[in-house]
Amino acid sequence: MNLLIMGPPGAGKGTQAVEVVKELKIPHISTGDMLREAVKQGTEMGKKAKEYMDKGQLVPDEVIIGVVKDRTKEPDCKTGFLLDGFPRTLPQAEALDVSLKEMGIKLDGVINIKVPREKIVARITGRRVCRSCGDTYHVENKPPKEAGKCDKCGGELYQRSDDTEETVNKRLDVYEAQTQPLLDYYGRQGLVLDINGDQAIDKVLQDILTALKK
Ligand code: AP5
Ligand code: MG
Ligand code: ZN
Repeated sequence: MNLLIMGPPGAGKGTQAVEVVKELKIPHISTGDMLREAVKQGTEMGKKAKEYMDKGQLVPDEVIIGVVKDRTKEPDCKTGFLLDGFPRTLPQAEALDVSLKEMGIKLDGVINIKVPREKIVARITGRRVCRSCGDTYHVENKPPKEAGKCDKCGGELYQRSDDTEETVNKRLDVYEAQTQPLLDYYGRQGLVLDINGDQAIDKVLQDILTALKK
């Protein structure tokens, strides 16, 4: 299956994507994770991207489109993929269409996680991420067994540099202006699966898997 997972910052895209790909045995491709990895490695792309990310702005389309195109051509994508955080603009969606056409494949669905804006700030500011394995926690909603330490690998938990209240509001504005319109684009193609993301994490997953079976 070739899938997208969409929704505002903090909707739970990453949290759900990790479980969905286990179930479907396809790779999880998160452009946010790829960019953070480039920042960590100190690559040219990483240096450029960090300035945008810390301000809550999107990195330029020309930076990200080629990266995703190359990634979806890797052998592990032969059975499908779940794209998380891409596309985020109309030019990105159009570029993805061109690239899928070149590969002779189509999208099977767009998972759209819906969470009211007023719930999002608390989700984002309480998020903690493992520095070693990338596992995601929340100080209240999904606390690690031991504070500051990853359950899975014992790694140190940190707060993303774009997870401040100020930046979150900017990211939400950017989402509403630039990314939300893509739901019309995919809606016209009958691909959007609306999921209520304002429920327990397990329940959201169940709803996604049920929607995908239909
Ligand atoms: P990206 O990393 O994609 O960030 P985002 O879209 O802002 O989304 P988040 O990762 O913040 O949220 P999420 O939906 O994954 O939520 P999570 O599961 O972690 O992008 C970061 C930046 O990179 C962008 O701002 C941009 O600069 C750049 N970028 C990336 N892709 C780009 C592109 N294509 N083009 C241009 N620029 C790009 O959950 C959040 C928290 O809530 C966690 O703590 C979690 O434990 C908790 N939680 C999850 N589900 C629930 C639930 N059901 N109930 C209670 N708590 C929950
Ligand atoms: Mg994420
Ligand atoms: Zn870890």
